Amino acid sequence: MNQPLIDKVALVTGGSRGIGAAIAKRLAQEGAVVAFTYTSSSQKAEDLAQAIQATGGQALAIRADSADVEAVKNAIAQTVKTFGRLDILVNNAGVAALAPIDQFSLDEFDRLIAVNIKGVFVATQEALRHMGKGGRIIMIGSINSDVVPFVGGSVYALTKGAIASFTRGLARDLGERGITVNNIQPGPIDTDMNPADGAFAEQLKKAIAIGRYGQADEIADMVAYLASPGAAFVTGASLKIDGGITA
Ligand SMILES: NC(=O)c1ccc[n+]([C@@H]2O[C@H](COP(=O)([O-])OP(=O)(O)OC[C@H]3O[C@@H](n4cnc5c(N)ncnc54)[C@H](OP(=O)(O)O)[C@@H]3O)[C@@H](O)[C@H]2O)c1
Repeated sequence: MNQPLIDKVALVTGGSRGIGAAIAKRLAQEGAVVAFTYTSSSQKAEDLAQAIQATGGQALAIRADSADVEAVKNAIAQTVKTFGRLDILVNNAGVAALAPIDQFSLDEFDRLIAVNIKGVFVATQEALRHMGKGGRIIMIGSINSDVVPFVGGSVYALTKGAIASFTRGLARDLGERGITVNNIQPGPIDTDMNPADGAFAEQLKKAIAIGRYGQADEIADMVAYLASPGAAFVTGASLKIDGGITA
């Protein structure tokens, strides 16, 4: 089997369900040893780690809330202590909350900033202490960085816009170290966060050129590419994978 990520160690934040779980599985199939974080889905995290191990891979599930600075630092430290190195960080953990601006609470604002921005900053800074040439930082942003075709998405869009900007700056900081930084911007993907049979689904499907929601595995395919040695000249990019909803 072709395994371009053999001997690489990856950490995926928010890997127990949805897009993060598909990424963790896919990186393991590519040969990487995979650690991933989660907050509350302990059983799903355990099942995923066992599924990866059952196919001959190595996996480690770590409970770590991305909003908790010390927990994020510990997750990186535990990954490096267990597997000896860190080559790939996928900043996937994210939360959404929708409300028009006059109804958006400061507590919700702080939570979105803490998980979607501060958690990404801390994980990235900490991971970089261990990453050498060939390292990969991969963000899971959103098309809502650039388009917000519904009411109530302003704060979520703000956080994903920050990720796109952070990606560009980091690419400049890290280019000479041979570390690439890229931002995947999914459109509607069928997960618990945005189910294909949820409240917005019919309206969204009409706007998607391909006419359906994306699958988490389709995002994992792009992560596998960006993590691969063949993507060494791709950095600072925000790459949409959205079925043409922004076309
Ligand atoms: N689905 C979409 O349509 C879509 C579109 C564009 C972008 N995205 C982005 O893609 C990423 C993944 O979304 P998803 O749809 O897979 O979401 P999801 O179905 O809600 O899954 C979220 C995952 O992140 C974990 N998580 C949540 N809060 C966390 C925290 N504070 N610290 C650590 N882990 C946490 C969850 O673990 P627990 O269950 O243990 O809490 C779960 O494994 C997010 O950044 C999201 O903004 C999603």
